[in-house]
Amino acid sequence: MDLFEAVARRRSFGRLHPPAPDDHQLRQILQAAACAPDHGGLRPFRFTILRGENLAAFGRVLEQAYLDRCADSGTDPVPAKADKERTKLGRAPLVVVVSAVRSPSATIRWEEQVAACAAAAQNALLAATALGFGSMWRTGDPCYDVRVKTALGLQAEDAAVGFLYFGTPSATAELLKGPKVAHLDGLVQEWRPGRPT
Ligand SMILES: Cc1cc2nc3c(=O)[nH]c(=O)nc-3n(C[C@H](O)[C@H](O)[C@H](O)COP(=O)(O)O)c2cc1C
Repeated sequence: MDLFEAVARRRSFGRLHPPAPDDHQLRQILQAAACAPDHGGLRPFRFTILRGENLAAFGRVLEQAYLDRCADSGTDPVPAKADKERTKLGRAPLVVVVSAVRSPSATIRWEEQVAACAAAAQNALLAATALGFGSMWRTGDPCYDVRVKTALGLQAEDAAVGFLYFGTPSATAELLKGPKVAHLDGLVQEWRPGRPT
């Protein structure tokens, strides 16, 4: 699969099944991720692999974090929401959390460190697509919850950039989604002196 085909075929698949990338394929995916442009060579990327019984264990971390957020804000937890937090990692057989570890660099802004990690996440999704797997990038409240960051071994000032889900989509889902065709209407301008738009 060439690059343009992988770009078009990368779609968000909400449900992913075994097989997931094996150890060798996961290494290829993470090496592609770590090839992302990285201003200053700070290597801000961190990749946390969740699979097997650890998916369920981390689901309990997400559920407890939700319950704690409710307690913090004085709101009653919604049981269905707690259940979803506990079980949602089960939507794929393999999840990789991409995080950005903040460097106190005087020259490279934090936004650029996070941008490098977002580029790494996209590289990972494209590599998985090229290897024939489905994927999905998800975020949500857990990415911004210090309790979840702590469970990932991060500091409060670091960022969880995304939970990347990997596996195999159903044939029906693949047919329904199909390759993406992007429309550029309204997205592009050619700058000339005196004519900024
Ligand atoms: C930073 C980021 C966070 C995302 N978080 C979520 C999420 O929490 N839940 C979700 O359903 N999709 C999430 N997505 C996926 C987008 O919804 C998806 O890419 C979009 O709907 C376009 O569909 P496609 O990926 O099939 O092209 C996220 C995408 C990005 C880039």
